[in-house]
Amino acid sequence: MITDQFNRPLHDLRISVTDRCNFRCQYCMPAEIFGPDFPFLSKNEVLSFEEIERLAKLFADLGVKKIRLTGGEPLLRRGLPELIEKLTRIEGITDMGLTTNGLLLSRLAEDLYDAGLRRLNISLDALDDNIFKKLNGRGVSSREILAGIDKACEMGFEVKVNMVVQRGVNDQEIVPMAAYFREKGISLRFIEFMDVGNSNGWNMEKVITKKEMYEILSSHFELEPVDAAYFGEVAKRYRFKESNAEVGFITSVSESFCSSCTRARISADGKLYTCLFASHGTDLRAFLRDRSSDETIKTKITSIWSKRADRYSDQRNNLQTPKKKIEMSYIGG
Ligand code: GTP
Ligand code: 5AD
Ligand code: SF4
Ligand code: SF4
Repeated sequence: MITDQFNRPLHDLRISVTDRCNFRCQYCMPAEIFGPDFPFLSKNEVLSFEEIERLAKLFADLGVKKIRLTGGEPLLRRGLPELIEKLTRIEGITDMGLTTNGLLLSRLAEDLYDAGLRRLNISLDALDDNIFKKLNGRGVSSREILAGIDKACEMGFEVKVNMVVQRGVNDQEIVPMAAYFREKGISLRFIEFMDVGNSNGWNMEKVITKKEMYEILSSHFELEPVDAAYFGEVAKRYRFKESNAEVGFITSVSESFCSSCTRARISADGKLYTCLFASHGTDLRAFLRDRSSDETIKTKITSIWSKRADRYSDQRNNLQTPKKKIEMSYIGG
């Protein structure tokens, strides 16, 4: 097991399989910036399935147990079930998840399940169509995502729903979302709006903290805390009394969780990032494509992880000048 400067083991790997998305959420890929001429990665720049599989095996050798596929929107990557099949077969990988906006789920859920995937985290920021259509920047109705969620549940997936909460944008949806998913028995996680990337219009006034959300929810529901499922779990979880459903809070802004952050991230073009808010990554693709040996690549990864001292969320309030960061759509959250 390799550990970093704060003794955090390398346990999870988040792999972005494409930098493209069929949504244009204002806080992630604003349409003004990610327009028709935006220079997305070309096919040749993106890692092939064989390259991803090789990297995943090397990370598993180094102690990674959990893989999460992300994007952009990962379901846009052609043939994705084939990759999932390869990854679920890797020795040492005991948990595999996928984070999606859900639009293509009705169509793809079956193939994903057959390929061996069992966990889906689906983003949905509002039930109200006026709000949701504006938020996703493509006029997609929440009904389409809800249909995808229903389909995934029917298939037997373990489903979580992620809602990014922004003051003055979708905060009136906190209670309706909680009521809807409580009824369905699906875990809903409220995410504090984060200052990821360089173009998402973040400011502290737009953040509704866990404390505030909890107070809003408490006036409608009785909640009791649930113990963390594993070390370093990102969400703080609560159970509705007299129901099996849960809600969670992802508190990157008000209660940072860097001290237990065991996540490495790989962009679709094969750069390794050791923090969601990193400015620089290390080009692993270059090693893959110049025929470096497995040992060489593992030594490189070990060296990067053991030097790692990232803890952006712990420090964000003390930073004097804003730093240049990678875009969320490029690294997949
Ligand atoms: P599971 O616990 O495996 O279900 O997944 P997860 O919650 O780690 O993954 P998911 O992709 O659903 O992430 C939910 C939200 O948490 C997203 O907004 C992520 O950007 C955020 N998040 C996940 N990991 C980190 C992290 O290391 N740092 C920060 N700041 N945010 C994170
Ligand atoms: N703050 C918090 N969460 C965000 N996501 C995207 N951008 C942000 C942001 N600025 C979420 C998506 C998805 C997950 C991968 O990251 O909505 O649920
Ligand atoms: Fe929205 Fe996710 Fe697409 Fe970003 S990657 S634009 S958050 S759906
Ligand atoms: Fe990990 Fe960076 Fe998020 Fe902290 S801010 S939890 S170090 S990814």
